[in-house]
Amino acid sequence: MRIYKAANYNEMSRMAANILSAQVILKPASVLGLATGSTPLGTYKQLIEWYEKGDIDFSEVTSINLDEYIGLSSTHEQSYHHFMHENFFDHINIKPGNIHLPDGTATDLEKECKDYDALISDTGGIDLQLLGIGTDGHIGFNEPSDAFEPLTHVVNLTDSTIKSNTRFFTDEEDVPKSAITVGIKTIMQAKKILMIVNGKNKADILKEALYGCITPALPASILQLHPDFTVIGDEEAFSSL
Ligand code: GLP
Repeated sequence: MRIYKAANYNEMSRMAANILSAQVILKPASVLGLATGSTPLGTYKQLIEWYEKGDIDFSEVTSINLDEYIGLSSTHEQSYHHFMHENFFDHINIKPGNIHLPDGTATDLEKECKDYDALISDTGGIDLQLLGIGTDGHIGFNEPSDAFEPLTHVVNLTDSTIKSNTRFFTDEEDVPKSAITVGIKTIMQAKKILMIVNGKNKADILKEALYGCITPALPASILQLHPDFTVIGDEEAFSSL
């Protein structure tokens, strides 16, 4: 595990963008595992800036997103499809056919999960997985549980996640209660993992995830076992360490 402390959110985002950018420069046909949430916004913004300057080329990149809400169409403003297009894909030269997210409106969700796993293995696997962390220690939408779920699956979101996602919706009633997420095995099979964390509200869970017991009750704790795991946090995120 490598830990890098950034002075603030902007520095964290720049450091993360540097790692993603190096990955794409060294291997133009990289498979990037991507995340949503407010944490990676600065990273995507920085990558867009470097793309506009001509420093990075995404034309051969494939993206695999971690998760999607069930019941939201790709055009819904709060869907992760929409988030990724608005904040990243629409501003770079990634090929539309190389962009992948689970379909939260699929009628056969079990099939959708199986197909998503097959798609990931068809790409040859994820080269670099970008992750945030939920305030309850979830990664993707792998919520605290009694067992690690290895593969892509449907998950009922915890009250804490629903509450924390309420900030993006006008009404708490509208917040989806379930999602499709890639599983822990898929995340752990990524060749490299980069987790970014900012803010005081993540400090305690980050400390537990990095130095506490490895347990499905805190899904991010499994990352301690990954052979190429990097964490970049700002000062506030590391304030409990
Ligand atoms: C959602 C996403 C996660 C993300 C988390 C944290 O639950 N599924 O991938 O890490 O939010 O979000 P934020 O970065 O806004 O704190």
